[in-house]
Amino acid sequence: MVVHAVVVAAGKGERMGAALPKPFLPLAGVPLFVHTLRSLTRSTLLQKIVLVIAAEYEPLCRQLLEQHGPLRLPMLLVHGGQERQDSVRLGLAALDPDCDIVVIHDAARPFIEAEIIDASIKSAAEHGGALVAVPARDTIKRVNPQGGVVETVPRHDLWLAQTPQTFRVALIREAHARAHTQGITVTDDVALLEWAGGTVAIVPGDGRNFKLTTPEDVALAEALLKMGTARLHP
Ligand code: C5P
Repeated sequence: MVVHAVVVAAGKGERMGAALPKPFLPLAGVPLFVHTLRSLTRSTLLQKIVLVIAAEYEPLCRQLLEQHGPLRLPMLLVHGGQERQDSVRLGLAALDPDCDIVVIHDAARPFIEAEIIDASIKSAAEHGGALVAVPARDTIKRVNPQGGVVETVPRHDLWLAQTPQTFRVALIREAHARAHTQGITVTDDVALLEWAGGTVAIVPGDGRNFKLTTPEDVALAEALLKMGTARLHP
């Protein structure tokens, strides 16, 4: 079974309010995307990584990889697009023709554990698609545009989607191509398989695999590392 990863790092990360895009910001002295790549290389099933970056940051990216490398896996850099969905589609297009399973992961989730990646790979091989997710813990409200609470959404069957989102390559490529042709926009890859009628199984994740979005998230990540609650790898 040939298993590759597509890691999307081509976002601008405007919510961080920093000069550099989010994946290049340091976490404990190492760029966020390097931590994420190192975490992925701990999977024993992954054989290659396609890293999707914004074209203008390729020189910086290569320099940082040189400085913090080498990684245990071969890597290919490709240029991303306007939206995350475009970046994933361009990453999928760069996979080797013999690739069976693709692990799609956000560069902004450095704390992913190898056991969870491998569970998602096995689940995708069996079901077609696998979603790493955690059960919703808070009570969820639907709110109207005026800011008034409309209703409480029962949460017993609600899960919060993370990445990796892992698929048989042919299924997710086909779903992305069809969505692109028909102008369908979604916020994650599993949504495309739902839309295209594929099966996606849940792989229970871990709250520590959160997406670093704001400066507070970076502070939280640093604190978890200091307390030993979350791990990163050299
Ligand atoms: O913006 P958001 O936090 O949802 O982005 C999730 C991931 O998708 C990030 O790792 C970001 O770099 C990536 N992304 C991308 N191309 C875009 C937008 C986001 O690769 N055009």
